[in-house]
Parts: sequence; structure tokens; C-alpha cells
Amino acid sequence: MTEVPGQKPVLLLVGGGTGLVGRSIVAEFGRDHEIRSVHRRPAAAETAAGLSTRAADAEAVTDWRPFLEGVDMVLTLAWYRQARRRHFVRLADGLERLVHDAEDAGVRRFVHVSVPDAPAHFDVDLPYLSEKRRVDRAVRSSRLDYAIVRPTMLFGPKDVLLTVMMRTIHRYHRFPMFGDGEYHISPISVADVASILRREGARGGRTDTVAGGPRRWRYRDLTDALFRALGLKPRYFHLSGPNSVRLAWLLETLGSTLLYAYEAEWLLSDMLGLPPYVGLDRPLADVEPFIEAEARRIGQLSRG
Ligand SMILES: NC(=O)c1ccc[n+]([C@@H]2O[C@H](COP(=O)([O-])OP(=O)(O)OC[C@H]3O[C@@H](n4cnc5c(N)ncnc54)[C@H](OP(=O)(O)O)[C@@H]3O)[C@@H](O)[C@H]2O)c1
Repeated sequence: MTEVPGQKPVLLLVGGGTGLVGRSIVAEFGRDHEIRSVHRRPAAAETAAGLSTRAADAEAVTDWRPFLEGVDMVLTLAWYRQARRRHFVRLADGLERLVHDAEDAGVRRFVHVSVPDAPAHFDVDLPYLSEKRRVDRAVRSSRLDYAIVRPTMLFGPKDVLLTVMMRTIHRYHRFPMFGDGEYHISPISVADVASILRREGARGGRTDTVAGGPRRWRYRDLTDALFRALGLKPRYFHLSGPNSVRLAWLLETLGSTLLYAYEAEWLLSDMLGLPPYVGLDRPLADVEPFIEAEARRIGQLSRG
């Protein structure tokens, strides 16, 4: 990226600065980039952090050119953890239009956050994945200089997995064990993902990178660590793999956001224990200090 002295490069943040990764992007890029945040519900905190915001639903944006004026780098985060098929299709359409308009506008760098490999049938029957892959393909087949970054499960303040798992364990003193717990997971911190996006964004070329955290945990060792951090002896109710997916599906249909059926299946597939990302100028953050801090916070909340 060519930097003009005294002028900050402009980053178009599609998905905004309030989501899990978005907040870490603001912390990472805010000091030396002008960030334009585009998502459905911009927040006052973003303006306070110096971002310019624009309320827009990426499903509905038909012409991205006005958003792209003067933009040096596009970074896409917008996606749903769960939604109806038509929303995934429309959002993928909107992001494909963004890719084409960015190409036409001659944007120098396009950084796209995607997801790791998944069970093959997800590509056929899970719009979460098949539509995401459609966007990935649009990025890859464009003329853009791009970096696709595909992190595994993230942890960070107010995340929706580890934090929620810990609250559930604290409340019930038990947790389901999905299958034998012998599969793996390598959680990566959102702050590290933001630094990885910066590095990959600055590298140039056309790259596709998976990113795991520093340790490839056996799943049941990680859940044991959650219990221990909360001062509890690990206690599980054991479910077979298929019953785990059924339970997640049941919770999902009852409106729970704890774990979706596809997430349980992905976990059980043993495809989420990605190798550690190599290339940052500091070690990747371990998950243990986060777990311990979260346990203290949960303890304080329940006492107060
Ligand atoms: N969390 C993980 O463990 C994980 C792991 C691997 C990859 N990823 C990927 O990382 C990216 C960010 O994930 P995250 O966990 O930070 O998700 P998140 O907290 O749900 O944030 C996503 C953001 O996208 C915005 N958004 C959603 N739909 C939009 C739309 N139609 N138009 C414009 N903006 C929209 C949302 O803001 P509004 O609601 O205000 O629109 C939200 O703040 C996603 O692409 C996800 O697939 C996440």
C-alpha cells in the first residue's frame, strides 16, 4: 500500500467495528488507518473511536462504488452465524458485487475473512458454508490482490463460544461431552487474528491462509481446563456424536444460540485443530490466561 505522508490509508470495514473480530480490527488498525465502517447497526462507540460509519445492509447494497472512493484496502467480516438460506444467498450476492466493484475501482488490497475446511456435505446442504465458499471463489477468481484468512475458533472478550461454555458450566456444574472428546481444536485470540489480517493485508500477492492458535488442544482437555478455572471438578453427561448433533439441533430449534448443530458436527469432524499461524513478531496468545480472567469475571458477577 502506497502511503501518502500525513495521510492515513483508508480501510473499508465491511461488517463494521462492533462484532467480535470488528472490535479487534478497530484496536489494531485504528491508530494508523482511517476506518470506514459499513454495517447494519453502527454504534456510537465507533464514532467515539474515530471511525466514520455508514448504516447499510450488505445484502441490499447494489452499487459499492460510493463506498469505495479513496479506499486503499477492503476488509470483509460480514457474515451470519445462523440465518435463513435466503439471507446467506443475498449476503453472498452483495459481497460478490463488492468484489466486482472493488476490482473495477482498482482497490489495491482486498482482505476477506473466511472459515476453515469443513465436512464435505456442508458445501452442499449448509448455506452458511456453501455461500461463504461462493464469496471465497469470487475473491479468488477476481483480478484483485487479495488475502483470504481462515481462522479456526476464536476467543476474546464477549466471544460466543468459550465465554458461553464457561457461563453454562458455572451455572449447571456440568457440560455435555460430545462424542469421545478426542478431536482437536486450536483456539486463536481475536487480537492475534487482527494482527494476522494486518500482516496478510500488507504482504501483497494472492494468498489463502488458515490460522490456528498456539496449541492444538484435545477437546476434552480444553473443557476440563474450563471446569478447573471455575474451581470445579469436570463433570459431563456423555453423548454419542450423532446424539450431540441432535441435541445441538434441538437447542437450536428451541432458540438457543449456545451451539448450532453444524458447529457440533464441525467440532466432531476433527477439522478445527489447525496448525498455529506462523509470521507474527510475537508469540500467539495462549487461551489459558483468557480462561482464567473469564473465570474471575464470572465469579465476581455471581458474587456481586
Ligand atoms: N467467531 C469465530 O469463531 C469465527 C471463526 C472463523 C471465522 N469467522 C469469520 O469472521 C468474520 C467475523 O466473525 P465475528 O465472529 O466477528 O462475527 P460477528 O461478531 O457476528 O460480527 C459480524 C459483523 O457483521 C455485521 N453484519 C452481519 N450481517 C451484515 C449485513 N447483512 N450487512 C452488513 N454487515 C453485516 C454485523 O454487524 P450488524 O449486525 O450491525 O450488521 C456484525 O457486527 C465472519 O466472516 C466469520 O465467518 C469467525
